[in-house]
Amino acid sequence: DAAPLDAAAVLQWYDRNARDLPWRVPPADRARGIAPDPYRIWLSEVMLQQTTIAAVRSYYARFTALWPSVADLAAAPLDRVLVEWAGLGYYARARNLHACARAVVERHGGVFPTRSAELLALPGIGAYTAAAIAAITGDEEVAVLDGNVERVLARYLALPVPVREAKEGLRAYLQEQVPQRAGDFAQAMMDLGATICAPRSALCMLCPLQPGCLGTRADPLVYPVKAAK
Ligand code: ADE
Repeated sequence: DAAPLDAAAVLQWYDRNARDLPWRVPPADRARGIAPDPYRIWLSEVMLQQTTIAAVRSYYARFTALWPSVADLAAAPLDRVLVEWAGLGYYARARNLHACARAVVERHGGVFPTRSAELLALPGIGAYTAAAIAAITGDEEVAVLDGNVERVLARYLALPVPVREAKEGLRAYLQEQVPQRAGDFAQAMMDLGATICAPRSALCMLCPLQPGCLGTRADPLVYPVKAAK
């Protein structure tokens, strides 16, 4: 019974304010039917786990120059991939990256899947990554819930409990809100969390969700509420 989220307003905001990111196909090109390369979206999403966009940019450029396709990455020696990964941290990600590239070649003939069910079966691809790739590359109408989006929803709903006690409820709520332009919607919600509804500042006057937002009526920064110690 939570108020619905104005997905049309979110998409309209994204059409004007989408961040220009190297792996992203801008909304105007998406509208013309240009789909992003699932290999590149996967690579960017794995790199962005626990790492900032600023830090990822140069690594993303180097990986895609060295290995333009998933088959190229699969054919590289693991040691070389680990050397190129140096500095990004969490080296298990690089090992999983390489294992996943090999699995895509072996199981899918080098054609990167775009359906979340197939993606989930690959090494190193969890619920978040599968949903992000499926939405962004195939407009599969799945909820894409990362830390940024959790914060946006916690504020929008004035969520009275810590996010970790409400994850499945938030996912179910977001799933109900996903529009046809699922990929643009997912990226819009992440951009909103990164640029407007940020951890220590909320620029509510610029937010397309401001009219229905419960958090903005008092102090949005009290959400998400912290767990009691
Ligand atoms: N952070 C992680 N993935 C992202 C994406 N696709 N768009 C914006 N921010 C992100």
